[in-house]
Amino acid sequence: MGAMDCETDLLFEATGAAERKRVGGFEYAEGAYCGGTLIAAKSLMGMSNSAACAMAGILGFSPDAFIVQGTAGAHAEGLHRGDIVLAERFVNIGRYRSAHAAEGGGVHTDRWDPLNSELFMDGRVVKTLELRSDRFMLETAASAPYDGGRLVRGVHGSGDVWNNEADRIIQLRNIYGSDCEEMEGFAAAQICAAFGVPFLGIRIISNSALHEGEVFDEAYAAGCQRFVLEAARRILAL
Ligand code: 5AD
Repeated sequence: MGAMDCETDLLFEATGAAERKRVGGFEYAEGAYCGGTLIAAKSLMGMSNSAACAMAGILGFSPDAFIVQGTAGAHAEGLHRGDIVLAERFVNIGRYRSAHAAEGGGVHTDRWDPLNSELFMDGRVVKTLELRSDRFMLETAASAPYDGGRLVRGVHGSGDVWNNEADRIIQLRNIYGSDCEEMEGFAAAQICAAFGVPFLGIRIISNSALHEGEVFDEAYAAGCQRFVLEAARRILAL
């Protein structure tokens, strides 16, 4: 699943399907791929779209595994455009609770504490700050070759936010441990976890506010899709 056309065009092409199925604004296609079935999905941007698209996709196509992928902005200084971050974990960087301050008491983002998410898992409601990718999918994706940059494991920070202030980005990294930020991962992972579908996040860095000139460039999304297709080929062989 990806949010934008530039993040999903090669995946749809790889299904070989002549037409896309539509559920509202969500688009899906499935087809034979490397001895298995590949389902491509386009969610549009943001957490609600992501969750709803994942949900409709799981109910409509019963996938055995789920990859949420696309572009991301760097939170770690060592990451540059073209680097790929495999999600060991997802955190929700848009979820926080501030301590009370009276009027005139100011806004203190350094004191906004991460707030647990509730999810239904294994028959009960659990509260968690993070969601973990499936370790077999993670290991298998990590074995795929990549020559467009570094291939690292890390934490995907998700939220309906786009941060371009270096100080805020450094603060988020300190508070949540995020290596990059995007707008869909945690929401899709939350739905997958609730429905027992193993999941993995794969993101390519397309921008970094921490480095001069590394502005958003959607062209990186194609490199992510090519890597995802190779990772999917290997995961299908598991
Ligand atoms: N912050 C938030 N989302 C980003 N994306 C790429 N870079 C960033 C960033 N710095 C991804 C999101 C969303 C779209 C804007 O691209 O996942 O779908």
